Amino acid sequence: MQFRPNLYFPFAQNRNLVFLYWNMKIHKAKLVVAVLASTVFLFAVEPAKESKPATVYSVGKKSRDGIGKYYMGREISHVMGHLGAGWLERPGRRKEERTDLLLANLGLEKHHNAADIGSGTGYFSFPMSEQVTKGKVYAVDIQTEMLDIVRKRMKQRGTTNIVPTLGTIKDTKLPANTIDLVLLVDAYHEFDHPREMMESIFKGLRPGGRVVLIEYRKEDPTVMIKPLHKMTQKQAILEMQAVGLKWKETKDFLPKQHFMVFEKPELVEKNPE
Ligand SMILES: C[S@@+](CC[C@H](N)C(=O)[O-])C[C@H]1O[C@@H](n2cnc3c(N)ncnc32)[C@H](O)[C@@H]1O
Repeated sequence: MQFRPNLYFPFAQNRNLVFLYWNMKIHKAKLVVAVLASTVFLFAVEPAKESKPATVYSVGKKSRDGIGKYYMGREISHVMGHLGAGWLERPGRRKEERTDLLLANLGLEKHHNAADIGSGTGYFSFPMSEQVTKGKVYAVDIQTEMLDIVRKRMKQRGTTNIVPTLGTIKDTKLPANTIDLVLLVDAYHEFDHPREMMESIFKGLRPGGRVVLIEYRKEDPTVMIKPLHKMTQKQAILEMQAVGLKWKETKDFLPKQHFMVFEKPELVEKNPE
């Protein structure tokens, strides 16, 4: 490009000065280009930073009832298929597991919104829906066949306050900050992604909302259930605390299962003084 000083500096008297000034501008421009180029180079060669935290799961020895995937030292069990629906509805279950006592101790109130996660056939969702007459029960499962059973029974009984919800292995699809009580009966130990599931449950709970976790007592050798379908209280507390839930109490009034209560803390004050 030809230099035309008069065009840019119409009042300049000294052409040498103008030339000098122009040269400085070129050097500045070169400097800017060099800085930009080196920035681009830096970004190009630096390896992409890991945005996700390292996985909380590990792969290990696979036992008969497990999937060979471990979470906080516990092997995750197989999911119970929908063909086991009849077993969930077995006539002797109430007496054998005292499900009536379980339901009576949930502390549900009329206006509460509840969630039955891993609802299966809705064995617990239906009696819960009768306790929360002014609220709803989200019956969440990952098997459409289970939810079809829930829907069919809703029609037969005329139940309108159950919301059958198809979740994913990582997501309950619960609305945020609305649930007063989440019930998990014999389901948590088979969650493929327990950390993500509990994070999703935590998100769905209102502050002060509770999780009631029911699992067969692993500490008790007289409870004749496959080992991976049982949990110790210690392990359960460890896993619930990992997502920020607070352990409140464990009531052992059921014949075979722990009745463990956890709470989502109320919002922490920003400047508590
Ligand atoms: C053993 S059944 C228990 C059903 C019911 N809670 C009861 O006690 O009658 C476990 C249920 O959890 C469901 N499940 C497994 N993983 C799940 C997940 N990530 N989210 C929702 N449901 C899940 C299974 O499909 C199955 O229906």
